[in-house]
Amino acid sequence: MSLDIQTAREQLSNKGFLDVEVPKTIDLISEIKKLKKEKNAVILAHYYQEPAIQDIADYVGDSLGLSQEAAKVEADLIVFAGVHFMAETAKILNPSKKVIIPDFNAGCSLAEDCEAADLQKLKDKHPNHIVVTYVNTTAAVKAISDITCTSSNAKKIIDSIPIDQPIIFAPDKNLGAYLNQITGRNMLLWEGSCIVHEAFSIDKLLLTHQKNPKAKIIAHPESEEHILKTAVYIGSTSGMINYVKNSPADEFIVATEAGILHEMQKEVPHKKLIPAPAKENNTCACSECPYMKMNTLQKLYICMKYELPEVNVSEDIRVKALIPIQRMLEISAK
Ligand code: 13P
Ligand code: SF4
Repeated sequence: MSLDIQTAREQLSNKGFLDVEVPKTIDLISEIKKLKKEKNAVILAHYYQEPAIQDIADYVGDSLGLSQEAAKVEADLIVFAGVHFMAETAKILNPSKKVIIPDFNAGCSLAEDCEAADLQKLKDKHPNHIVVTYVNTTAAVKAISDITCTSSNAKKIIDSIPIDQPIIFAPDKNLGAYLNQITGRNMLLWEGSCIVHEAFSIDKLLLTHQKNPKAKIIAHPESEEHILKTAVYIGSTSGMINYVKNSPADEFIVATEAGILHEMQKEVPHKKLIPAPAKENNTCACSECPYMKMNTLQKLYICMKYELPEVNVSEDIRVKALIPIQRMLEISAK
């Protein structure tokens, strides 16, 4: 298996990943480990990645943890097993390092729902507002934001802003509504949402709870209000894992992307974890992120071998996008 540069370029522009046939005899795990050493690479993975990718990663975490980890990377090559905006954040923080992602198409419905030009129009209409954006946005959107946040530090970030300062919050309307409720603000909310967290069915969730009355419902704040109202705990993926670990309860219904169950079950092997059911029947009767699942172990191997596809951000956008990310990291560290 080898690919010339011209074919690689064509494949990347047509498909967004390198479509190379890998012989079945190749042991992907040991090859990835070899490449990691050879290239002085670090693999950063989100909890929504498939289990095999999480297991081979050097660091697995939530969006905040991944940004914090990216800020202190010493390796030469950053392999980002997550979605595009996460890899972009790593590049913004590490302009001199090469950042690669197994599949360039691994996007995010939230990032897609918010174009920089549209956000600029809203800013122009409300010049006295400051703009807080969720990290699930493009670098161009971050470049016109005042501060970013993730689900684990959003309340802290909002609380750091004077109470009489009007705020535009983008792009997640569900997280925004939840933040308005817990901070007592009235932020102007962008109309974006996460297709994965909006897929949960409240009727099926209540039925699952009836069948498992001892189970505690825990939810990610990207979920809709009716789902959040049923939850005893609302937090980021890391927050949910910690809650399950520290709770005396033995059963949980977990309302977030099903990939989290891998790490969660490792932490609490004797506890019962039930994925919250999605509206439509799909293969796992849960909710999976189609973008996160574009990355596979095979694509991870190929991207490390060829160091492609690479994630780049123009210097003009990068320097502007760095400011709100750094503000977030500074406040989070306090
Ligand atoms: P966290 O891992 O920060 O909770 O975010 C979840 C998510 O949807 C990432 O895309
Ligand atoms: Fe985006 Fe939702 Fe997928 Fe996270 S789970 S990457 S917010 S679409």
